[in-house]
Amino acid sequence: MTRQYSFDKSRINVLLLEGLDPGAEATFRAAGYDHVDCVTHALAPDALADAVANAHLIGIRSRTQLTADVLARADRLIAVGCFCIGTNQVDLDAARRRGIPVFNAPFSNTRSVAELVLAEAVLLLRGIPARDRLIKQGIWRKSAEHAYEIRGKTLGVIGYGNIGAQLGVLAEAMGMHVVYHDIVKKLNLGNAAAVEDLRDLLAMSDVVSLHVPATADTDHLIGARELAMMKPTAVLINASRGCVVDLDALADALRHGRLLGAAIDVYPEEPTSNQSDEPFRTPLHECPNVILTPHIGGSTQEAQANIALEVAEKLVRYSDNGSTMTAVNFPEVALSEHPGTHRLLHIHRNEPGVLSRINTVFSDMNANVAAQYLQTRDDVGYVVIDLDAEDSAPALEGLQRIEATIRTRVLF
Ligand code: NAI
Repeated sequence: MTRQYSFDKSRINVLLLEGLDPGAEATFRAAGYDHVDCVTHALAPDALADAVANAHLIGIRSRTQLTADVLARADRLIAVGCFCIGTNQVDLDAARRRGIPVFNAPFSNTRSVAELVLAEAVLLLRGIPARDRLIKQGIWRKSAEHAYEIRGKTLGVIGYGNIGAQLGVLAEAMGMHVVYHDIVKKLNLGNAAAVEDLRDLLAMSDVVSLHVPATADTDHLIGARELAMMKPTAVLINASRGCVVDLDALADALRHGRLLGAAIDVYPEEPTSNQSDEPFRTPLHECPNVILTPHIGGSTQEAQANIALEVAEKLVRYSDNGSTMTAVNFPEVALSEHPGTHRLLHIHRNEPGVLSRINTVFSDMNANVAAQYLQTRDDVGYVVIDLDAEDSAPALEGLQRIEATIRTRVLF
């Protein structure tokens, strides 16, 4: 179905679910969106289907399931914001085919993860988890045995991306030497040095910290063989993804004193909610000098506030300007301002000949096109055209007659 939206903010309904940080609502209001409806919880499926039918922009966290069926009811929806990292709760392909870009906030909690990892490095090298456990059992063990400063030690970062690089900067400020291993050539921050071979990094590091994505290559990247390459006085930290470390092999290394300690924030299987009936177990429960946390590396108040701003700004930018940069399911177009012109957005099925039909509309009208942008992704194409104000209404009609059109909007 072809839908047309003219740009009138007073007619745009913003629906924010799941108790988002107040910064999200404030961002919309500051941008001139007055119809912002905030709901503190996730909606049940029927209520959700009713609510999305009226919404132009919707903000959710992880508990709202925007399935293909729900999206089919969302006739007015122009964009979805996932105010979190993951986007599994949205049927991304179905959204794209309906011309709906989906945004998220992949980097807002970078600092939170880096801080936690650095703190864990300090605690593990001092043997604090083991000493904490003993003293709570009434056992007093004052000793400097296996207790080290992190100053002067080597941090080995595996995956020198946003988090790994930021961790390296913080660690240098604490006096650590930083080496890293990445499959992509990276710019060294500070005095960090790249190490070509992962085995060398494992052998030279006192703290090994993982910051890679979950891919076929990183599945059990650290297993028994890799753990055996580490110093017995070294510690391992994984706040990346659960599949990256073989936890049975890690438990074995810790129990046999082949490693000083470990901090684990992510697991191969994690409960989907805090209300799970089953007790959560890992092979590491009985190991000494281990810190276990429930995937909270990025969970801080600051990260929540950053996420609210980042995603709300992306939604406002798309709604105001048409830019789709960083959309997770949609052709990405970075657009400048367009003073003095109208901007037509044309989302269409990516079929041969559509662009020439679009251009025929403008040439038949003898319209003055100031700028044109095109990007495609899989089965969807996105064309943006800036043109003189008086041409926009007839041009829009012409674009809507193109058979492959999914939806159109005009911004001014
Ligand atoms: P990023 O994409 O910025 O960096 C990942 C880096 O790993 C890239 O430089 C990439 O080239 C590198 N890499 C990929 N495959 C590799 C391999 N086989 N060997 C070595 N390097 C490899 O990602 P970012 O934002 O730094 O996140 C890193 C990880 O942290 C992700 O898995 C993410 O899901 C996780 N994360 C965990 C959080 C938590 O709460 N514990 C919160 C935020 C992110």
